[in-house]
Amino acid sequence: MIAANREHDLEGADVSTTEPDPTDGVAVRGAVGDDLTGILSVGHRTWLATYEPIAGPEYVAMGLAKWWTSDVVTDAIRKGRTLVAVDGDDVVGVATFGPQDDAFVLWKLYVLPGHHGHGIGSRLMEAVVERALESEHPRITLSYLEGNQQAARFYAKHGFVETHRETPGSGLPESVWMARDLKAGDSA
Ligand SMILES: CC(C)(COP(=O)(O)OP(=O)(O)OC[C@H]1O[C@@H](n2cnc3c(N)ncnc32)[C@H](O)[C@@H]1OP(=O)(O)O)[C@@H](O)C(=O)NCCC(=O)NCCS
Repeated sequence: MIAANREHDLEGADVSTTEPDPTDGVAVRGAVGDDLTGILSVGHRTWLATYEPIAGPEYVAMGLAKWWTSDVVTDAIRKGRTLVAVDGDDVVGVATFGPQDDAFVLWKLYVLPGHHGHGIGSRLMEAVVERALESEHPRITLSYLEGNQQAARFYAKHGFVETHRETPGSGLPESVWMARDLKAGDSA
């Protein structure tokens, strides 16, 4: 999308200029092995910014050690379960999904903090919905951590409804589980 505006040059004549859309040049595609470093960087940067304030540094350290290692991320790439948003050579967003029992679970959705609010998360979500429809799953499930208002709002806007909560104990915030039923022709 291009927003046109008008400016005056030094001689006073009108000159048309364009404001680039920040998502121009951002592509969403299946992740490949070469994306590993970029994906790990998105994970580490977004986890710290997102979870340290609501769950503390130990939770961040635990999550990074459990879900953002080279082995775990490489496995999800090899299985075709990771999407990336790339701006040139830079990975700026990541989504990881996979089947669990009958469900299609969106395990990870992370966009670099400096790139929020430009539609990148929505484009990743759209691609995830496509994958779920392709694999003939009728619903997507996901969870976010209580206190993560940005995620709560984003998912509600994308049609997800709370189904249940899990209490981890140890003073950590609850996991809020949500689901969205899909039908053919759905998009983000
Ligand atoms: C949640 C998250 C993935 C959303 O990604 P995002 O790229 O910011 O999402 P979008 O830009 O598509 O949408 C966010 C907002 O920007 C608005 N927006 C979308 N495109 C826009 C554009 N081109 N210009 C201006 N605003 C736009 C959307 O309407 C939306 O508005 P809202 O806040 O009122 O709902 C991102 O905020 C994130 O990574 N957060 C931290 C990690 C996290 O919590 N992940 C979820 C874990 S469960």
